[in-house]
Amino acid sequence: MASSKTVEIAAPKRALTPCILDEDPAQLEVLSAVITEMGYEPIPTSDPAEALQLVKRGRCRLVLVDMHTPGMDGYEFLDQLSRSDPGVHVIVMTGEYTLESALEAIRRGAADFLPKPIDQVRLRKALDDVAALYDQRRRVKALEEQLLKDLEFHGIVGKSPVMLEVFDFARKVARHYTNVLLVGPTGTGKELVARAIHQISPVSQQKLAVCNCSAMVDTLLESQLFGHVRGAFTGATDTRPGLFEYANGGTVFLDEVGETSLAMQAKLLRVIQNREIQRVGSPEVRQINVRLIAATNRDLRAEVLTGHFREDLFYRLSSIQIRVPSLTERLEDIPLLMQFFLKKYNAAYGKNISGLTRRAQTVLLQHPWPGNVRELENVISSACITATGDFIDIGDLPEQLQHRNPGGAEGDDWRPLSLDEVRKVHIQRVLEMCQDNRLRAAQVLGIGRTSLYRYLKRDKMASRSKARSGGAAA
Ligand SMILES: Nc1ncnc2c1ncn2[C@@H]1O[C@H](COP(=O)(O)OP(=O)(O)OP(=O)(O)O)[C@@H](O)[C@H]1O
Ligand SMILES: [Mg+2]
Repeated sequence: MASSKTVEIAAPKRALTPCILDEDPAQLEVLSAVITEMGYEPIPTSDPAEALQLVKRGRCRLVLVDMHTPGMDGYEFLDQLSRSDPGVHVIVMTGEYTLESALEAIRRGAADFLPKPIDQVRLRKALDDVAALYDQRRRVKALEEQLLKDLEFHGIVGKSPVMLEVFDFARKVARHYTNVLLVGPTGTGKELVARAIHQISPVSQQKLAVCNCSAMVDTLLESQLFGHVRGAFTGATDTRPGLFEYANGGTVFLDEVGETSLAMQAKLLRVIQNREIQRVGSPEVRQINVRLIAATNRDLRAEVLTGHFREDLFYRLSSIQIRVPSLTERLEDIPLLMQFFLKKYNAAYGKNISGLTRRAQTVLLQHPWPGNVRELENVISSACITATGDFIDIGDLPEQLQHRNPGGAEGDDWRPLSLDEVRKVHIQRVLEMCQDNRLRAAQVLGIGRTSLYRYLKRDKMASRSKARSGGAAA
């Protein structure tokens, strides 16, 4: 009977499926027989293109290659292999062993270098070392997946001290709060934190109503939140309760609360102070019992100073405040988030991408992430669609990331642009990042929606008149 240890070793050996690439059919046959004898299931070939394909398709995780295969530059072949699958293991064989060539092959990613004629003991050791390494990587991956599960707080991934603090505070607050204010830049996960707080709260079995306060004009927002009676305004053909009544006993999440008008703020203050509402068009005052979570990416204190936000409402809302930090304040979360989104989009698109190449990871770690986690999620999602190999590489990342100067400095691209041009280019980049969502772009840019529209209109008119004058000159 096979012991469990034998079974454990046999599995990675089989999964490795070594591809043997050698021009000499007799050599291929002998090597194949020897390697099969050692418990592996090799695929022999004398065609470098076939070997590459076997690696690309994920069939072989190990290649034993004779460096002097005719019609093939050995080092270039090594580079091609690691480009198509950075996780592939390569053992180089050669009849012309020199220390320099061995070191060069290892520098280019080879796992080992075997002089010919092949010594069987040495070969077995090289293969078993690779099998052990392969097995170790598989186990690390499984552990990382487990870790990912452990580091998830109600769907929010994070292991940085700042995020662990957010989780801890949210957990404590959830049991006792009546109002909480979530602040932080766009795309940092405020809505996720709001949902988590509701899930942990004693009213988790009740409803959670979400209202995006910036998406509607005042009258519509009022009717959505407070409800209306029939005939209250043109088009009010029936009587409807609003979100506060709908979520009575549960939670209302007021997203983008910083975008509300002063008139609406007065109505919200009444809800917070007295827990009472009035449907639009009705004199009847109704008592409600809801927990309130509000979120904003604006600096409300500054808005108070400029007269855009009511001071009394601000103090009421912010008695308990949770700040969700920007992604650059928690760079150590990026690898974990990458893994999380990779898993999510592998499942969504039916793919099986194993990871990101080291250089792609470096690019992502150096990006300033103005759109925070949402931007990172968009990058991984689109890279999952584009990637054809087992790994996401630089070429699968969006243009603006690919051409970024490593180190973050944009010095090499520098041109003496006018401020107007800089603004135009910057707005276009932020719009691309926000997938043309103008509201989000305006938030990232820290300007109002109307200002953004004004700039876009001005830029459009400028490029039209430029095109016209260019046409006239031609
Ligand atoms: N820590 C995280 N773990 C997993 N997913 C996250 C995390 N943070 C954010 N996300 C994802 O990023 C996207 C943006 O998150 P969310 O909508 O909660 O941000 P937000 O702070 O409310 O942004 P905005 O201010 O623009 O409304 C969502 O798809 C969310 O699932
Ligand atoms: Mg939000």
